[in-house]
Amino acid sequence: MKIGDTIWKWVDSRAHISDIPLRGMPEYALNVTYWTGAFLGAAFVYLVATGMFLLFYYRPGETTAYASTQYIMTQVPYGNLIFTSHQYMAYAMIFVVFVHFFRNYYLGIYKKPREVSWIIGILMSIVVITMGFTGYFLPYTEISVDATNVGIGLAKFIPTIGPLLASITFGNGTVASEFSRLLALHVVILPAILFILFGLHMYLFEQHEIAPPPGVEENAGKRSIPWFPVYLAYSAAVSFLLWGVVLIWSALKPLHLGPPAGSAIPVVPISEWYLAAYQKVVDFSPISKNVDYLLMGLIIFLLAVPFLDRNKSRAMRDRPFFIAIGTTNLIYLIIYTAWEYLQPGKNVAPIIWAPIMFGILGINLLIAYIFHFRYKKIGKSEEVPPA
Ligand code: HEM
Repeated sequence: MKIGDTIWKWVDSRAHISDIPLRGMPEYALNVTYWTGAFLGAAFVYLVATGMFLLFYYRPGETTAYASTQYIMTQVPYGNLIFTSHQYMAYAMIFVVFVHFFRNYYLGIYKKPREVSWIIGILMSIVVITMGFTGYFLPYTEISVDATNVGIGLAKFIPTIGPLLASITFGNGTVASEFSRLLALHVVILPAILFILFGLHMYLFEQHEIAPPPGVEENAGKRSIPWFPVYLAYSAAVSFLLWGVVLIWSALKPLHLGPPAGSAIPVVPISEWYLAAYQKVVDFSPISKNVDYLLMGLIIFLLAVPFLDRNKSRAMRDRPFFIAIGTTNLIYLIIYTAWEYLQPGKNVAPIIWAPIMFGILGINLLIAYIFHFRYKKIGKSEEVPPA
């Protein structure tokens, strides 16, 4: 303990770490419902560390990418564990982005003063999903190339900026330029953008007190938990939990590379799970070609939501429209993903998709408004003085 104290005093007298004005946390922050942000930070650190290791051995190129990935997985000590856990951690990060997003959406955490944190969060989730997509191509397996080609097709449909975006991302269409663009995006450009956005996200987070749970006033909690060392140690423990789970998962279910690109072995042309719902909507005729307008509309709605939801209350019962839209999209996400896995690439006629799509929306609006008016009524009746 004495040695630890001496080292700490030495470091602190040089780096003045204890002077950094990081404020404490309220007690309610030490709760599982606040873990998603820490998981995301931990996943990012893990992906950067393992990604650097993979770069030591990986060789981009039509003839080298597959062979070098195979080498990592079969010859390099712990190579399979690192490759597998890199991919599983990316899946975990994307999954937790969805959880973090829906948590903050349902709890109305996009409201004042966290509007900008929310907007940065939306931009970060686009970057994270694009990182997953660009990384998928790199091992150059049959399925990863097929999925990337589907992505190129979809990117070209994005209104106005689509063709430009496709040419920035994939170059002039040769395999060599695809490798250099996708690798640069995956290992340098997107992580750098994510790092900057993460810094801003954390700066804003530090400026506002962590959002209180429902029913608790803003700034009501005392910042009684010191940031250093208690909150830091707590966040580290939460991070290690995620790393441990992903490492165990990787050890139990190591990945095997599929057939290399260009091989005659047939593979089912299905995109990664986090894009499967989007892929399903592409199958809905005749909206297939306009699906990017839907996606752009959704992104614009999400960026604008802090300014559209004018009700000061964060309570769900006071925001029926936004709760209905959130739940509708959550249900679409689950149903369309499952549907794509059950019937990959199968065209769906309007007579089938339209009642499902509008039915889910209608039912959610109905339920949200029934609860809203019921609560309003209860609220009013409580105001009546007892006889
Ligand atoms: C790579 C993606 C992301 C990372 C690494 C990240 C990280 C974090 C961390 C560490 C926190 C603080 C702890 C917490 O409240 O959980 C946080 C808070 C927050 N995040 Fe994210 N986040 C990401 C994506 C998003 C997304 C997609 C949204 C929503 C669109 C979002 C919105 C917010 C908001 C509003 C807060 C403040 C929460 C509060 O004060 O309680 N973030 N984020």
